[in-house]
Amino acid sequence: MTSPAYRSAVAAFVLLLFPPAPSSAPAREKARGSTSARTSLSDTSTEKRIDELVRKMTLEEKVGQLVQYSAGQPTGPGTGRTDYDDMIRKGEVGALLNISTARQVNVFQHIAVEQSRLHIPVLFGLDVIHGFRTEFPIPLGLASTWDPDVVEQTARVAAREASASGIRWVFSPMVDIARDARWGRMAEGAGEDPYLGEVMARAYVHGYQGTRLDAPDSVAACPKHFVGYGAAEGGRDYNSTEISEHTLRQYYLPPFHAAIEEGAATLMSAFNALNGVPSSANPFTLTEILRREWGFQGIVDSDYTALAELIPHGIANDGATAARKAFLAGVDMDMVSSLYHDHLAKLVRSGEVPEAAVDEAVRRVLRVKLALGLFELPYADETKEAGAMLHPDSVTLARTAAEESFVLLKNSSVGASPLLPMPGNVNTFALIGPLANDRGNMLGSWAGQGRPQDVVTLRTALNERIGARNVHYAKGAEIIGGTDEQLEEAVKAAEQSDVAILALGENAPEMTGEAASRAFLGLPGRQEELLEKVVATGKPVVLLVFSGRPLTLPWAFQHVTAVIAAWFPGIQSGPALVRTLFGDANPSGRLVVSWPRSVGQEPLYYNALNTGRPARNVDLTRPPRNIVERYVSRYIDEQNSPQFPFGFGLSYTTFRYGNLHIDKTQISAKSLNDDLQAREHKQSAALSASADITNTGTRPGVETVECYLRFQGTSVAQPVRALTKFQRITLAPGETRKVTFLLGSNAFAIWNDQQKFAAEPARVTLWIGPDSSQGVQATLEITK
Ligand code: NOJ
Repeated sequence: MTSPAYRSAVAAFVLLLFPPAPSSAPAREKARGSTSARTSLSDTSTEKRIDELVRKMTLEEKVGQLVQYSAGQPTGPGTGRTDYDDMIRKGEVGALLNISTARQVNVFQHIAVEQSRLHIPVLFGLDVIHGFRTEFPIPLGLASTWDPDVVEQTARVAAREASASGIRWVFSPMVDIARDARWGRMAEGAGEDPYLGEVMARAYVHGYQGTRLDAPDSVAACPKHFVGYGAAEGGRDYNSTEISEHTLRQYYLPPFHAAIEEGAATLMSAFNALNGVPSSANPFTLTEILRREWGFQGIVDSDYTALAELIPHGIANDGATAARKAFLAGVDMDMVSSLYHDHLAKLVRSGEVPEAAVDEAVRRVLRVKLALGLFELPYADETKEAGAMLHPDSVTLARTAAEESFVLLKNSSVGASPLLPMPGNVNTFALIGPLANDRGNMLGSWAGQGRPQDVVTLRTALNERIGARNVHYAKGAEIIGGTDEQLEEAVKAAEQSDVAILALGENAPEMTGEAASRAFLGLPGRQEELLEKVVATGKPVVLLVFSGRPLTLPWAFQHVTAVIAAWFPGIQSGPALVRTLFGDANPSGRLVVSWPRSVGQEPLYYNALNTGRPARNVDLTRPPRNIVERYVSRYIDEQNSPQFPFGFGLSYTTFRYGNLHIDKTQISAKSLNDDLQAREHKQSAALSASADITNTGTRPGVETVECYLRFQGTSVAQPVRALTKFQRITLAPGETRKVTFLLGSNAFAIWNDQQKFAAEPARVTLWIGPDSSQGVQATLEITK
């Protein structure tokens, strides 16, 4: 066994055992400030306890800590072995997933703690993605709030509820960058931007883990899927990815790094092959970057059967090889595949895997279990479980989060003023659409323990608000399918009413989330037909789009009066929507993904490179008519721009941007780099940029003020814009506020051609604006 692959795997393992000090690559900005809230995974006395335990363990017991099976509703193909009681008793299982009640947890935990030789508790993990019992908006919706405080609070509620059921480990947040709306899992993340991804990653981790992991209501976070999974070619789930190191470093890794900096105790390795090497057997990402550069001490868990999938990937022809490659690359725990269980001890005995490496992985598992206080408090209190769910404050938070997640995309005038909020002279409403009275879908995909009966639908909330006799409800169509009679009924309902509200979109569990990639991004079934028929009545129409991704609806955006992207809003869907429609809540959500006009534009993202032939000053609404119009980077049959840009969202009020001021027009690269290299990187501001924002409308409103940068003249081409900071502010009508952004040296660093984060001489354009396509701007220079 002296092949180069084997040697590099052993080299990777040596790094694992003796990691050098984390490299001096500058830490990315701590978007949310202090590190004091970070949970610590270990201390000297914990390490001593670990030493003692490991010393007592047989090789089989050690391997057992690295084995995880699915013991409830499976969330992938198969469950792995199912003789749980017996395996736990023998110390052959370190963790279980997919168990969800205190009772079930306790049954297994009693066996582990009371009947296994070393009494080591089992770690129970679950996909708690946007709430446990209290279901909040899907993560794409939560990110659309641009409000990390609200996101953190939702994670805290999820932690409280999950831990009450004995779940101390959640497979969340998903921090994959998603640039392609065909990929169903766009629903589970924070969209296309690395900076927003970092901010949200920190919010989730802090919310889940709290200030102390051993608090009984804290849970270990598991940022996933490391790494590049969201770049699946063609948007097809589980597909391969090709990502250059530059793109990996500058776009895909930062949210993971932020989560690790925030103290995430675990991390999940992904399914995808990354530049030919599956992410779950990739020494470069799992050992070189994660352990060596970032100093990660927690558990790396594989995704579901990802180790067995190394065989179809084509890098192993048998289970033993797959286990060896994954293990030596840096995967500590095998989710469901059984390959560690079946082969790891043999691999140690044959000398292909050093036992010291197994010890290190076991230490990482024990470290997390100890940090969670599982040895002291292994059981869930079954008497308190029910009472922990759906606390009234949690339900109120679900409503607030939903309100903040809605993105008002269009609001045309009917007569003198915009249709929304609903004017007082509207008396009767047609409420139409397969999602107007649908409880289950409002929960979104990965709804965990959320139950349809917890949901208040739009129909219920509207009836309550204006009286059922003023609401003409017609389903109009199914999500897929429907009859001519249903369509006719809907048209009749619209004709009898002042305004029609249409609730249309996707089926959450079937068409969004995992294994739900779509090649067509329009409204499914007959819904577009339904929409067009209702619009043809001439009544003003509000379209509520329920989806896990932006949908291509060019006709709707042209003909419908008002459109709101509602995502899947969770248990308080109805009240949140009604409060928004009637103006008790003023929409403040902003897009976290570029909204495409056509599927053919995907992958579509604002922070793209300019190309050598940018289509500037060319009318892209028609086919090219001459060589100037033709030989540019464009489609001959579609525009390049999105329907709505990243960062976009309307409000019931309006805002004006002015008076952009920057405190310097030149900064030296040397001073920025000195600051970046300083051991105690203090985030001293390298530049202060401010603008005056005025509420020019008649209502108070929240504006998300976004700051973008562009670098030109650098060693590696940089995007046409990159979000670098944002602030949410509330302004009264007529009020003006100066918003100041203090940009640290890392805001000016790029991943350069020397494979380093550093500042370089460049021309810099800075914008402060309401989205990624507008804003007031200034230029400055980074000199040598
Ligand atoms: C597969 C998914 O990719 C992952 O996100 C999830 O956490 C695991 N299954 C466990 O259910």
